[in-house]
Amino acid sequence: MKILVTGGTGYIGSHTTIELLNQGHEVIIVDNFYNSHPEVLLRIEELSGKVPKFYKEDVINRQALEKIFSENEIDAVIHFAGYKAVGESVEKPIEYYYNNLTSTLTLCEVMKKFNVKNLIFSSSATVYGLNNISPLKENLPLSTTNPYGTTKLMIEQILTDLYKSDNTWSIALLRYFNPIGAHESGRIGENPNGIPNNLMPYITQVAVGKREVLSVYGNDYETIDGTGVRDYIHVVDLAKGHIKALERHIEINKIEAYNLGGGKGYSVLQLVEAFEKVNGVKIPYKIVGRREGDVAVCYSDAEKALKELNWKAEKTIDDMCKDSWNWQKNNPKGYEK
Ligand code: UFG
Repeated sequence: MKILVTGGTGYIGSHTTIELLNQGHEVIIVDNFYNSHPEVLLRIEELSGKVPKFYKEDVINRQALEKIFSENEIDAVIHFAGYKAVGESVEKPIEYYYNNLTSTLTLCEVMKKFNVKNLIFSSSATVYGLNNISPLKENLPLSTTNPYGTTKLMIEQILTDLYKSDNTWSIALLRYFNPIGAHESGRIGENPNGIPNNLMPYITQVAVGKREVLSVYGNDYETIDGTGVRDYIHVVDLAKGHIKALERHIEINKIEAYNLGGGKGYSVLQLVEAFEKVNGVKIPYKIVGRREGDVAVCYSDAEKALKELNWKAEKTIDDMCKDSWNWQKNNPKGYEK
């Protein structure tokens, strides 16, 4: 199939592109490098032996999108592009709503115009909000705590209404839990701008000497050791989930949400301990206050993806820790030379 991947040079987009190419699909990437780097394209070529077609454009640019659709016979779209930092979204709500919503609306209009109606959307476990109890099932009531999360929930609603109006669409809403890890080659991985917001990139930056000490946000939650529990998933497993969703949804005309998670929770300190043990490095940490908006426990019920997509996460927490470190230590400055 010919797949358009928006945000294809980002963390999850680049790993998914590799899996698509490995499985013989043709990939067209549209990305503006807002939160990524041109070097990623060279690494994708190096790892896959193939050259995806690339357009340096913003998905908000309708004319550019129309050109891409008229130049390529696209079968389906995987839509990763979007702003994704929770804290920043609280500071800049208008930018988040404008960018994430307008780009998705524009994409859908252009898809409709070109009669391409297969869409895989990057959603997030953040749509389960603060009040649901884990394991989280897809049919729970949804809510959010920050503008970033609200853009994900609003887009899920927009796509649900789109499907209601025209059930020849096929749409998969993929709710990611906590993606970590990297391609096992260590050539592509997560490369956050500035100070990392998320736990694993912070740990790897401490390990590589770029940051001094990890701040653990609270040890007074009702969890195994008082620290927050999350469902970590290897980014390569996550990438494979997209291909399973694509293969399933090309056959049916439906809208469905699927959790992509491992179905198991690990605390912050359990992750730190696994990282230290697998990689033989020490991660100095200090306990600080809770971070606003954090839930104590968040992990998936992963049965629906297994039953309907024949997908489950295969890699262990040790694989995730090993591959995250392999990426960071071989690329201490990320994609910068
Ligand atoms: N944490 C720390 N120190 C840090 C960073 C994180 O102790 O420096 C803790 C958090 O408090 C939490 C856990 O590590 O308990 C994981 O935090 P992350 O920031 O890595 O991940 P979150 O679960 O908070 O958020 C992630 C994504 C969001 C998404 C959400 C969905 O970053 O985009 O999962 O549940 F919305």
